[in-house]
Amino acid sequence: MAAKILDGKATAQSLRQEQAQRVAALQARGITPGLAVVLVGENPASQTYVRNKERACQAVGIYSEVHRLPQSTSQQELLGLIAGLNADPKIHGVLVQLPLPEKLDEEQVILAIRPDKDVDGFHPENAGKLLLGQEAFIPCTPRGILVLLERAGIPVAGREVVVVGRSNIVGKPAGLLLLAQNATVSVCHSRTANLAEHTRRADILVVAVGKPGFITADMVRPGAVVVDVGINRVGDRLVGDVDFEGVSQVAGWITPVPGGVGPMTISMLLENTLEAAERLASA
Ligand code: GUN
Repeated sequence: MAAKILDGKATAQSLRQEQAQRVAALQARGITPGLAVVLVGENPASQTYVRNKERACQAVGIYSEVHRLPQSTSQQELLGLIAGLNADPKIHGVLVQLPLPEKLDEEQVILAIRPDKDVDGFHPENAGKLLLGQEAFIPCTPRGILVLLERAGIPVAGREVVVVGRSNIVGKPAGLLLLAQNATVSVCHSRTANLAEHTRRADILVVAVGKPGFITADMVRPGAVVVDVGINRVGDRLVGDVDFEGVSQVAGWITPVPGGVGPMTISMLLENTLEAAERLASA
């Protein structure tokens, strides 16, 4: 294998110590940072993600509460819960796990979260601020990618970055963040013509499409940095959007799945929750 591993698990672990110290500093001022997570329905992947978020909070001393609601929950019930969490002084961050059951209106739910508790960074106010380069909560996965690159000493400024995927959660904010770091950014998607011509130009390739093994070795420039955001269950294995075995022969750096971007997403959720609590403490 030619590629070096971009180890998200180890990076998240080392950040955890700094985060525990920040929790202790807040507690010394009488503030325990608190996160509320709302999970509607029984999506198995969402259940796993929420459990991992809960455990990570525990590990650094952040108070967390998980509201598990049945699939049959109405929009009004969900909005009522969010209103309560918005007003609850124990809670500094509110996160509604996506996707929601189809009959619920995701856009309206995100809009109901107080922007200063929106630790996912999905509220239009935070998304707009990110676009304009103003201080905002930054979505956890894109922020995790940036920190992972930074901690590995991989420069971004002036480099060709290709993002594959244009979701509101990953692709779009990742493109904006990397642009703000002075990368030259292309965002590709399902309608991109000649995708491989774009991906082969990338110094840094970020892939978030949700298709197992979508990026193959012939689509990657030798020595490129490959960041795989995908988490796909294939049989009893978790695999990314990148064909790890093939691509790791040509890439310079690669994130594994699991153990790459996933732990960084959770680490950035803790980071955003700490920031929310710290803002309150200095208000
Ligand atoms: N579903 C997949 N990723 C995320 C995330 O980062 N936040 C929320 N709330 N839901 C998700």
